[in-house]
Amino acid sequence: MFGLHYNLERSAIGMVVAIVLVASIGGFIEIAPLFTIDETVEAAPDMRIYTPLEVAGRNIYIREGCYACHSQMIRTLRDEVDRYGPYSLAVESQYDHPMLWGSKRTGPDLARLGNKYSDAWHSAHLDNPRDLVPESKMPAYPWLLRTQLRTDDLANHLAALRTVGVPYTDEMIAYASIDAFGQANPESAQASGVAERYGEATNIRLFDASGQRLTEMDALVAYLQVLGTLTGATAPTQTAEAE
Ligand code: HEC
Repeated sequence: MFGLHYNLERSAIGMVVAIVLVASIGGFIEIAPLFTIDETVEAAPDMRIYTPLEVAGRNIYIREGCYACHSQMIRTLRDEVDRYGPYSLAVESQYDHPMLWGSKRTGPDLARLGNKYSDAWHSAHLDNPRDLVPESKMPAYPWLLRTQLRTDDLANHLAALRTVGVPYTDEMIAYASIDAFGQANPESAQASGVAERYGEATNIRLFDASGQRLTEMDALVAYLQVLGTLTGATAPTQTAEAE
């Protein structure tokens, strides 16, 4: 064995060939799972894309570092399914750029958070978690209610997401800031186009308690309320298992 290596080291070509051979074994093992990517990522024809307001909320979620304490991926383990609901499918993160699966849970997983609480609950909880959960360790985010949401750059965010494969149309991009306002102001003239462009299942309502003003809280709550609701696709066996 050592004799072979000794001889190999004396031959430059032999050494190069051996390095390439050994490195390609490692490379193949890394690449092999991608050969089955089509079977791994389930089809979900009903998959909705995020509205501009939800994209803005997602950006705030990233800005505030919520992912440092909250994961968005329920693993296939029994205790996780019992606690959080059906485990996460690959397709559910199809349009998440970057993905926010997370690797640490100081707080609970949020992958199936949508519709679990009311908008008012979220608004009050983010404003000061201790008001609702006295023992909570979560930081307060009181500026979200005070800060007006920036919407003039939303078209650029949508266009950037389109370049990485999210199917936003030219119309969606052109109406991005108008739709962001409309989604959080159901009585306004801007509200009607939102469901037309993003589907009837879109939540169109006042998300925070601050009335007509469009705040960062509106965007973040709109985003939290769609987590886990963008597609009805879940593995057929797992719902029965969870019961
Ligand atoms: C330092 C860690 C930490 C950070 C950062 C953090 N959280 Fe939390 N979060 C927690 C903990 C702990 C709980 C459980 C106690 C509670 O409900 O307040 C929690 C609970 C929650 C819940 C309730 C979940 C449920 O199913 O009951 C939501 C929603 C939530 N956080 C959203 C957020 C958002 C949005 C952000 C970013 C703006 C954020 N959290 C940042 C620690 C954190």
